[in-house]
Amino acid sequence: MARKTMIAGNWKMNCLSADGIELAKGIASEVKSMGKPECEFLVCPPFTLLSSVKKALRGAKVALGAQDAHFNVKGAHTGDISPEMLKDIGCTYVILGHSERRADHKESNELINKKAIAANQAGLKTVICIGETLEERDSGKTIEVCTQQILGSVPDSATAANTVIAYEPVWAIGTGKTPTANDVEEVHAAVRKVLAKKLGKANANKMRILYGGSVKPSNAKEFLSLEDVDGALIGGASLKVADFIAIAKNAGF
Ligand code: PGA
Repeated sequence: MARKTMIAGNWKMNCLSADGIELAKGIASEVKSMGKPECEFLVCPPFTLLSSVKKALRGAKVALGAQDAHFNVKGAHTGDISPEMLKDIGCTYVILGHSERRADHKESNELINKKAIAANQAGLKTVICIGETLEERDSGKTIEVCTQQILGSVPDSATAANTVIAYEPVWAIGTGKTPTANDVEEVHAAVRKVLAKKLGKANANKMRILYGGSVKPSNAKEFLSLEDVDGALIGGASLKVADFIAIAKNAGF
């Protein structure tokens, strides 16, 4: 089953205007020089930079995504951004349920599910994040936790066309620590099985499952060559043009 590899950058709460524009321009120029890369590039800057990054990416095959969205179309929700607003500004993707939002904002599977439905209805594709904490891993609950997160956060209406899953062990994010390739493949294969039960085999076989957590140029090939790993969600290393591009190139793109 051919699944197009996704190389996605999650900029988190980083970059002021000048840095963000420079980063986006650098990525755009590198991607243009790759000709027709067989992978799909995505960058997810903070809300404040979406508009200027969109301009900086002009002409390059790099999709734009946001890092969160509300589940309502509009209304009295001070400080929030709706999926329609993101679509309007040129986003095609939105990350939902990142572990930092699950932790910092107590986002539940139920809330993420509602957000995903709203995002899809607005015409956005979602990148829904799951992953266990170190404590959960140490007590042997990795697959169980990921299963519950998939069942709870991924809406029944999800399809391979409107949804991407990102498996990110919480303890591997920003720490330089990573699971072994075998561990990653085991979780991804288990996640695909759960997706097959929930959404049907055809959707599950086509749905991309990214790995995230301390992905860098030196380990990109190891993870991206695994059968059930269909790309990477990259935090720290996505803030440097050379590293972000080297992750794709080292993986053979
Ligand atoms: P990291 O972050 O690459 O800095 O570990 C990944 C993520 O949180 O998406």
